This record gives sequence, structure tokens and C-alpha cells, in this order.
Amino acid sequence: METEIVRIDPGRAREPESREILRRAGEIIKSGGLVAFPTETVYGLGGNALDATASRRIYAAKGRPSDNPLIVHIAETADLERTAVEIPESAYALAARFWPGPLTMILKKHPDIPTETTGGLDTVAVRFPSHPVAQELIAAGGGFIAAPSANRSGRPSPTTAAHCIEDLTGQVNMIIDGGEVGIGVESSIVDLTEERPVILRPGYITPSMLREVLGEVETDPGLDAAADLPPEAGSGNVPAGPGPKAPGMRYRHYAPQGSMLLVTGDEAAMVERIRQETAQALAQGKRTAVIASRETADAYPGGVRVFVAGSRHDPAEVAHHLFGILRACDEEGMEMICAEGFEEGELSRAVMNRLEKACGHNIVRV
Ligand code: TXA
Ligand code: MG
Repeated sequence: METEIVRIDPGRAREPESREILRRAGEIIKSGGLVAFPTETVYGLGGNALDATASRRIYAAKGRPSDNPLIVHIAETADLERTAVEIPESAYALAARFWPGPLTMILKKHPDIPTETTGGLDTVAVRFPSHPVAQELIAAGGGFIAAPSANRSGRPSPTTAAHCIEDLTGQVNMIIDGGEVGIGVESSIVDLTEERPVILRPGYITPSMLREVLGEVETDPGLDAAADLPPEAGSGNVPAGPGPKAPGMRYRHYAPQGSMLLVTGDEAAMVERIRQETAQALAQGKRTAVIASRETADAYPGGVRVFVAGSRHDPAEVAHHLFGILRACDEEGMEMICAEGFEEGELSRAVMNRLEKACGHNIVRV
């Protein structure tokens, strides 16, 4: 398949020349094709959410197990009612506060949404993104776009069009380059189908922000499960019982090709341990990297490739850079990667969750 790459300046998404491109992109979606597009969190790989065949194509393009459900993206809150049924008041309250924005809600599925889109589940994930290119594309494509992150299964989510081009050239009809995304980690997911709301994936919308609207909110205890399934696991491989409730959170994800260790705890002890680990790796002749904070970046031996993720006091900055750094580790052939823990602030849960998955739960607490 030929992949067309087009460029839209997000600030000009509603100008006539952008609309013309988006109209064509919308036609691709409506005729069952696939378009990668920017959102405020990460790039998405979009197809018509109402078309079972389009959803199958998404799974194939990503190399994703078809039991891992897709998120349905809408461009107006009213379309929630065409996506879900038995919608609780809490969903409207969350929508009023956080939509458009980086929050996904799990609700009971509307019969018009094919089970191919929801990975066979009778629940559906819904999100109304704030990115103007995403909004215009959804509207042009008929209002309901199923979109997982636009990476090959198992790789870090894409935060630039270059990442999508790397992973999806030849697999999608069009890639819309809208520049670098703002947030850099995927949306927070909250499940509203149980008696009490449960966070299935931590993201930019933090537990305390959700609590302001919902009162109590729990976090899925399965998120800390130590083992991840390999990304190539086939349909039906998701085990029942303990483990994350969002099927996608059970798969290995983001892991770089080299071996990776996450070191958490007291700052001085953490730095000391990483100094030891990296010195040892260098002595073995390994290409060695550290994912560090700006504050501690100078602490590591010469010869170590230090990636500065951001300030230790600013998890949003770290979130913004993290996936790009994980990809760069592969590009630069890093064989041993040590990551510092980032545990300051509520948003650090989103960052740590991605780091824990990236290192395959190979974690040392000092
Ligand atoms: O920020 C985002 O959410 C991005 C952009 C493109 O919107 N999308 C994204 O999609 O991260 P994806 O497919 O990479 O992650 C969706 C997650 C997966 O872990 C999936 O298992 C979970 O949402 N999910 C989807 N539908 C679900 C459902 N009905 N019940 C539980 N988990 C669900
Ligand atoms: Mg993903």
C-alpha cells in the first residue's frame, strides 16, 4: 500500500487548505481505509469505528492481537450516546470537566459499535480529543474513529509523525504530520462500568483530578502485575484473573531492544547504583545509556549516553520526552539502559507506569 504523508499545522487546522486535506483524509476513513493522525497525547492509527472491516485492518496494520480493544474517538460529547448505553451521570460530569481532553471512559457498548472494534467486549472505550487536527478528522470521517496509538504493537507510542512513518509506512493510506504532540503519554482510562470508578491506565488526568468530580476513585491493582505477555501473543491469550483489567495493559510494551533496568528510591542512592551498573556495562564493552533527570545528568561516567528526560520536579516534561528517548535508545543501538525513577508529583504515576513496562518490571528499589 502506498502511504501518503501530508502536513497540517495544528494552528491552521480549520483553514481552507487544511480542510481540503482533512476532507480527503475523511474520505479515506469513510471508505474503510486507515489514517495516522496527531492527538494531544500521542499519534493515533484511525479507521471507521462503525466498520468491522476497518477495525480488522487496524489490528493487522499494528500487528496487534485482536482481543485488545480500540478506543472510539468522537468530536462532540453528544455522540457519546451513539457509542454507549446506560451512561451514568458520572460520565457526563467527567465529560463536562475534562472533554475535549486526554481522558478515556469505559462504558457499556452501543449496539452500533461492532465487537471487532471493542476486541469482543460488551464495553467500549470513548474519548473526545482536544487536538484540532484530530477533531476535524473525526468530523470529516463520519464522527466515530477507532484509534489505538499509531505504533507497531509493542513499540513506544509515537509522539511525532516520524515515529509513525518508521512504524507504519506501507500499512496505512495516509499519515498526517501535525508536529510533535503536547502531552506525550496516552490518555488516562477510567472504567465506569463497575460499582465504583476504577483507573485502568494512569495518564495526564490524575487520580486527584478525577476525585474532584467522582468523589472516590480506585486504581486497578492489576497494574502492578509483575509479568507482561509478549506483544505478539495471539487472540485469546489474555489470561483471566489477576492482571490489569485493560487488555492492552497486559502486553509487553515500549520495551527497547537492549536490556533495561529501572532504579528507584532515594536520589543519592539511586544515582550511586546507576553509576555502578553503568560502569560495569561499559567495562563489558556494552553501549550504555541512562535516562536521567536534568538535576542528576552529570553524575554518570564518561562514555555513558545520557538522555535527559526533564526535571525531576516536572513529570509533565518527563512524560513529554519519554517515548522519544526509548526510541532513540534503539536507534543508537543501546545494549544496556538504566532509567532513574521519577516519583515526584501525581503525574509521575503515568511516567513510572510506562517505565515499569518498558523495563519488563526489571526494577531495583534502593
Ligand atoms: O491517548 C490515547 O488514548 C491514544 C490516542 C491515539 O487517543 N490511544 C491509545 O490507544 O493509547 P491504545 O489502543 O494504544 O490503548 C487503549 C487501551 C488499551 O490498553 C486497551 O486494552 C484499553 O485501552 N481498552 C480499550 N477498550 C477497553 C475496554 N472496553 N475495556 C478495558 N480496556 C479497554
Ligand atoms: Mg498503545
